[in-house]
Amino acid sequence: MTSARPTAPTRVLAVSPHLDDAVLSYGARLHQLARSGAEVVVLTVFAGVPGPPYSATAHVYHDTWGVSGNPVPMRIDEDAKALRELGLTPRHADFLDAIYRTLPNGRWLVDDPSRSVSSQALEVEEPDLMASVAQHIREFSTRFRPAAVYTCAAIGRHVDHWRTRDATVKALLGTDIPLRFWEDLPYRGKTTRMPPLPAGTSFTGHLVEPVDPQDRDAKFRALLHYESQLALLGHESEPLPERLERYARERSETAYNEATWGLATTGGATR
Ligand code: CO
Repeated sequence: MTSARPTAPTRVLAVSPHLDDAVLSYGARLHQLARSGAEVVVLTVFAGVPGPPYSATAHVYHDTWGVSGNPVPMRIDEDAKALRELGLTPRHADFLDAIYRTLPNGRWLVDDPSRSVSSQALEVEEPDLMASVAQHIREFSTRFRPAAVYTCAAIGRHVDHWRTRDATVKALLGTDIPLRFWEDLPYRGKTTRMPPLPAGTSFTGHLVEPVDPQDRDAKFRALLHYESQLALLGHESEPLPERLERYARERSETAYNEATWGLATTGGATR
């Protein structure tokens, strides 16, 4: 243990789209904050437990994950183990992942396994879902009173990442809680494409945040708890820790790092 950093906030909230994203993208920094004395909660938005029947797309994902039946309880368990490894506290909201969602007309949001989830889901808006997710985040942060909130930048344009990011902006806009956006990993290694932020807001202040080897090592140990996700994340072709190290070295030769942006609002005010 090193001595606590004087700038470490007391309470930190990380809003994660799925059961793995906060650790994949920002796990080393969250570990660093936790061991510096912060109480860090990871609120996963799309952790709802679905029931059958499942869409054809969901069946394809279940096969990739190597599960039969309902995989979400197992994924919640993986997440609890990973977060425990990092000294973080899990909170799981019960919104359904895009592959389980239906539209008001009863059809699946995503129903063509031959097309990507996001290319289908982004063709429709989900205003009711967005409002509910924003309200959930607002209520949680009102109770928890975080000194800082982090969420994803939605690099890679996954629909659930986009919804999470914009709902978090919506929830916190007008408050004095600083919000930052982590670069989504491992997607950032392949693309820099992001959906536009809500009107009146933009990214500012890109920050590469170096961490100590112990934070990097804790993150890589934690990642291995997400057993069901490793195949989908390409762990077999190139182990995730090696790939994430490679991406980080593009930023800095000397230390493992993760990167974030701040949020600017129209008129130039940054927060
Ligand atoms: Co995700």
